[in-house]
Amino acid sequence: GAPQTRTPTGVETGAPATAMGQQGAFLTTAQGARLRDTDHSLKAGPRGPVLLQDHHLREKITHFDHERIPERVVHARGAGAHGLFTGYGTAEEVTRAGFLGKGRETEVFVRFSTVLGSRGSADTVRDTRGFATKFYTDEGTFDLVGNNMPVFFIQDAIKFPDIIHAGKPHPDREIPQAQSAHDTFWDFVSLHTEAQHHTIWNMSDRGIPRSYRTMEGFGVHTFRLVNAAGETALAKFHWKPKLGVHSLTWEEAQMLAGVDPDFHRRDLYDAIEAGAYPEWELGIQVFPDTPEETFAGIDLLDPTKIVPEELAPVQPVGKLVLNRTPTNFFAESEQVAFHVGHLPPGIDVTNDPLLQGRLFSYVDTQLTRLGGPNFSQIPVNRPHAPVNDMLRDGFHQHAVHAGVAPYRPNSLDGGNPFPAGDADDAFVDVPVRVTEAPKVRANPATFDDHFSQARLFWLSMSPVEKEHIVRAYTFELGKCYHQAIRERQLQCLANIDPVLCAQVATGLGLPAPQPTVPLGEATPSPALSQVGRQWPAD
Ligand code: HEM
Repeated sequence: GAPQTRTPTGVETGAPATAMGQQGAFLTTAQGARLRDTDHSLKAGPRGPVLLQDHHLREKITHFDHERIPERVVHARGAGAHGLFTGYGTAEEVTRAGFLGKGRETEVFVRFSTVLGSRGSADTVRDTRGFATKFYTDEGTFDLVGNNMPVFFIQDAIKFPDIIHAGKPHPDREIPQAQSAHDTFWDFVSLHTEAQHHTIWNMSDRGIPRSYRTMEGFGVHTFRLVNAAGETALAKFHWKPKLGVHSLTWEEAQMLAGVDPDFHRRDLYDAIEAGAYPEWELGIQVFPDTPEETFAGIDLLDPTKIVPEELAPVQPVGKLVLNRTPTNFFAESEQVAFHVGHLPPGIDVTNDPLLQGRLFSYVDTQLTRLGGPNFSQIPVNRPHAPVNDMLRDGFHQHAVHAGVAPYRPNSLDGGNPFPAGDADDAFVDVPVRVTEAPKVRANPATFDDHFSQARLFWLSMSPVEKEHIVRAYTFELGKCYHQAIRERQLQCLANIDPVLCAQVATGLGLPAPQPTVPLGEATPSPALSQVGRQWPAD
């Protein structure tokens, strides 16, 4: 017998999601019975009590009572759009992922977000931005769940609840709503100094993007690519916006948070509706897959480090165009569920301890957020590749599975799922050697340098960009109630750069401390600039 392909009823992903919504010419109950009146409850006389038997009243109110689902625990505030990705064919030497093939077109859904604010918070606050892309490839869905900054606050996912608790509003007073300008944030980043590199990106103009359309995106982690011959390489993913990278000024960001808290959401929607389709190029930095997993002395498993583009240029591998706004915000932007473990053949994970924890966290949170294990059947989450799994039943099961034997092999449903010869296009876990070291709760020593890349970033900035960074630190630290936290963060700034430290210290009216670590030599890096970048002709 042929393998059963799950074919849930209802609309196709990508089509305007109306088929399951409103049908027919008149208003009905959820069961399709035509209604005469939806404005008056059924009462015992015009002045009498409402009758329990009014099914329409109870159905309407009960459904409304359950309209809300939990917002995302992080990245709650966001907006999405549909688009098309076209491969250039330039990555074929390093990965067999079919969607990167020359001229191959793949539908995508992208969701941009802030990290800390709640669903109703303002768009233009100082924060990291999420840049999550779902590629509906014909070899299975690939989710590139990245941010607009190339590094992360922490090196190990076990600290993720801690950094988020520190960044979210104080639990006693629920302040501040969506800014990092508060004691717990600065307490965390000055105690967990690996956060200093990400923090200086946040304090720079990158923390207040002008538009989603003018943001870079980064996969952050190093991934392992596999080519058709089974050879591997390590790689980092980059999105480069066609419009270039642009930020707001701090004053603009503040004003917009008041006059148009939906500024980024509106900009994305209006641009697409006007036909000014936002575009990005996907690029990869490629590194040899050596046993040390380092490149130019940089540990590729440390997500607080970049590899400067002057050392490993970003090579363009495809182009993304966002060309369709969602039909329904809730159905698509709110219910979309990304997962770093959604990988096509040709792209695999590494042992980056932050990535390893993410592999567990996303599906776990979505089981609660989306009400059970069947959220991959929601139209926006449905793969465009045929699905033939042995997952069954559970809350919100929409598929009507045929057959009696959801296990393989079996002798009842024609049971052998692996016909000979199909292994070539299957996902293969790269058989990397697992260390023989004893199990420990510890980082490699290469994770210990917390300041030299923050210094590299600072020294690569122009004078006006440096002034913005100094003003951002001064403003944000000025919001702290605790002097000891300000002083501890000034010590971190001294370890990044004495000039930066002195200027912020002056702004805060505090003495500037001396560095406690040797300052590294750092030269301005083209990694951090768009200058001279060529966009290929269409
Ligand atoms: C959500 C990026 C680290 C847990 C997100 C989203 C993005 C993102 C873009 C929003 C997805 C959307 O739009 O729906 C990143 C990046 C990270 C990182 C780039 C570091 C490189 C982590 C870690 C954890 C984590 C270490 C936990 C151990 C979550 C959770 C959500 C989320 C629980 C909410 C997902 C949902 O409700 O669907 N992250 N994240 N993230 N992230 Fe991360």
